[in-house]
Amino acid sequence: MNHRRALRAAVTVAVTGALAAAMTMTLTSTASAGTTLRASAAEKGRYFGAAVATGKLSTSVYATILNREFNSVVAENEMKWDATEPQQGRFSYTGGDRLVSHAQANGMSVRGHALLWHQQQPGWAQGMSGSALRNAAINHVTQVATHFRGKIHSWDVVNEAFADGGSGGRRDSNLQRTGNDWIEAAFRAARAADPGAKLCYNDYNTDGINAKSTGIYNMVRDFRSRGVPIDCVGFQSHLGTSLAGDYQANLQRFADLGVDVQITELDVMTGGNQANIYGAVTRACMNVSRCTGITVWGVRDCDSWRGSDNALLFDCNGNKKAAYTNVLNALNAGPAIPTDPPTDPPTDPPTDPPTDPPTVGCSASVSLNSWTGGFVATVKVTAGSAGTSGWNVGFTLPSGASVTNTWSATASGSTGTVRFTNVNYNGRLGAGQVTEFGFQGTGSASGVMPTCTAS
Ligand code: XIL
Repeated sequence: MNHRRALRAAVTVAVTGALAAAMTMTLTSTASAGTTLRASAAEKGRYFGAAVATGKLSTSVYATILNREFNSVVAENEMKWDATEPQQGRFSYTGGDRLVSHAQANGMSVRGHALLWHQQQPGWAQGMSGSALRNAAINHVTQVATHFRGKIHSWDVVNEAFADGGSGGRRDSNLQRTGNDWIEAAFRAARAADPGAKLCYNDYNTDGINAKSTGIYNMVRDFRSRGVPIDCVGFQSHLGTSLAGDYQANLQRFADLGVDVQITELDVMTGGNQANIYGAVTRACMNVSRCTGITVWGVRDCDSWRGSDNALLFDCNGNKKAAYTNVLNALNAGPAIPTDPPTDPPTDPPTDPPTDPPTVGCSASVSLNSWTGGFVATVKVTAGSAGTSGWNVGFTLPSGASVTNTWSATASGSTGTVRFTNVNYNGRLGAGQVTEFGFQGTGSASGVMPTCTAS
């Protein structure tokens, strides 16, 4: 063993390591040189995923590419309603569970797709309507999201609920006919069942600013303003031979509503533009700091639902296509998602003593969405200057009002004086940090005032 050479090598590694660390600290947008999609995306704080047919996990070419290139998966069919609840009230999770274990064994996160959709419904649901269907649908959301609780990065809670064409309105479907509020009911049920999952609305033909994407935009804005729990919007991006010039601007306008955006089912028609379009979509995502990941809808061309479109990143033999190279380069060239706000060292020590004493404890405010005979309350809890390790919010409800359902908190009591305590993931708040919980009730809650106690 040549010790001198070994030492020189070690020193080179150490110096290069220090240099790299120094560079990443100062320049978040420095080009990097990951050599797989998953490594390059991860370096930029994002995921790169693929839709998986679990039956193919035993095909070695398929599994090799999947495990090498992707750090997120979504079930191509196995978590849809027809697969998970083939008979009413009888749930089947074999395919979904298999995918989750594969993901956990290979360091991948899982997108859940899709809790409610007008397609791929089991026959029994297709034949239902009205409140029977509404109750069955909400029960489906609750059961499936509860089964996978803690294992799903993002759920497509509702898929493809908007109409194509110029109306910007909802698509007609059995679910839509149960009442326009079916989407928010689904999101509330999903939040209650799995508070740790990001909850997404997902759709196609939304790849630019158009009537359909604007209809969805207006819904998301409305949900955010009323406290309906929505965290992300999925853009399927099943693309043809051109890309809308305002693809990135469209992602950005949704991000500006305070939701994450994700490219969820990317595939692109073959032809001269395929590689360019793949590159442009990836760049657009990288340029939007709330674009947290990209999923392609399959691994090899022959795995694609688009038949002869050859729409994916690998050919049928598993070779990388030009589109792959463009995606990898765009990931490597793009900026990282900013982590913490920049920490500039303080310039001068503060001179004046603070005037107002800091607020300790916590404060709470409530916004009510009421109708005759019922209400939903969304409560915002803000930590005082000392932060909290737990909190408790109390209300005195008017007589006749009663709490029926709570999310992101635990209720004690349902009438009169009712108290809500944090759950395990939202009790610890930094100074000034805010969290939300909610409850639903019958009767009227108008005029109620919350009191907040921190521990
Ligand atoms: C497709 C699957 O890829 C096919 O295997 C299945 O036969 C039909 O559904 N939008 C969606 C996906 O949200 O669930 C669809 O997946 C493709 C279009």
